[in-house]
Amino acid sequence: MLPKYYEFQNPVKINAGMDALETIPYELKQMNASRPIIITDKGISNAGLLKTLLNAFDDSELTIGVVFDETPPDSSLSTVNRIAELYRKHKCDSIIALGGGSPMDTAKGVNILISEGTGDIRQFMGADRLKKQMQPFIAIPTTSGTGSEVTLVAVIYDEENQVKMPFTSARLLPNVAVLDPRMTIGLPARITAATGMDALTHAIEAYTCLQKNPMSDAFATAAIKLVGKYLLAVVKNGKDKEARFAMANASTMAGIAFSNSMVGAVHAIGHACGAVAHIHHGTAMAILLPYVMEFNKDILGDLYGELLLPLAGESVYLSTDRVEHAGKFIKTVKSINTELNKLCNMPVCLSDAGLKKEQFKQVAETALNDGAMLPNPKELNKNDILNILEKAF
Ligand SMILES: [Fe+2]
Repeated sequence: MLPKYYEFQNPVKINAGMDALETIPYELKQMNASRPIIITDKGISNAGLLKTLLNAFDDSELTIGVVFDETPPDSSLSTVNRIAELYRKHKCDSIIALGGGSPMDTAKGVNILISEGTGDIRQFMGADRLKKQMQPFIAIPTTSGTGSEVTLVAVIYDEENQVKMPFTSARLLPNVAVLDPRMTIGLPARITAATGMDALTHAIEAYTCLQKNPMSDAFATAAIKLVGKYLLAVVKNGKDKEARFAMANASTMAGIAFSNSMVGAVHAIGHACGAVAHIHHGTAMAILLPYVMEFNKDILGDLYGELLLPLAGESVYLSTDRVEHAGKFIKTVKSINTELNKLCNMPVCLSDAGLKKEQFKQVAETALNDGAMLPNPKELNKNDILNILEKAF
């Protein structure tokens, strides 16, 4: 059933392909920018990806204002403040984020600080508080999972008050997202697997949550089709450029989908597993996804059934009885997890991922208060979450 009303927005230009990085000088010029700051982390620079990006500027007249490669694994307020100082000191006029979720969120925080001309971003916490024109901003993902390059959210940790601050605004969206398979080609198999399952979860939850709409559905199903065809291939052979490129596209499309609908209970419980037991986000998504779908199946069975074709392909779809489509879909997700476990040891149960039974209560209570719980079409109480944790343990 179509929603009575919905909004959909994705103004991010997507430059995608083997030499997509080389388009960045042109894109900056188009935005009247000539001195970008590059925000990344040590892992990225040590892996040689920063060098590949810098080489893309060789034939241009542009100058890199400054490179900051000390972004911590969780974006923090002090880092944002430190980078903004560098930005001003080196007279930069644009921002390039190179990395996974943390450099992206950090760059969004820096953009708020600089563009709003403030010394403290805390006053802009929450939804739609940004009013000024933002600095030109280019995002280059180095994993295929978060979709941060097309989402309007940034989460920044305030160390002083020990809170995670969410910022939501369409102004946080990058001007350009650059998907260049050279940026993910060296990603270890285990991270490739977990981040790929995060992308799959974004797409499935976007397609089944209360705020789904025809536009987000289109991006979600296209993303699922690519994950179904390429995730196992790219984990088997990380050098497979076609598969890397396909997963980069899948991740970005899944990001556009959930950014314009929402996610659901898999994310709510997964966020809680991360907060309580520091379980990697993508790993938590992979483990929880089939069990949450089993819980949701009596309400979402038809929608899960529709996703069997894009995920498993035509022959599986046609050889499965219609009433079995939803069950087969969940089984297919489980079998992908089993394969990923064989290929790269990705945990398939919460005990192997580091959760302790005595942490269940805290995870359940934290998950109940997570914003991602609200758009899940079937309401969960504490016992429901405990049951899911028990089954996934
Ligand atoms: Fe996620």
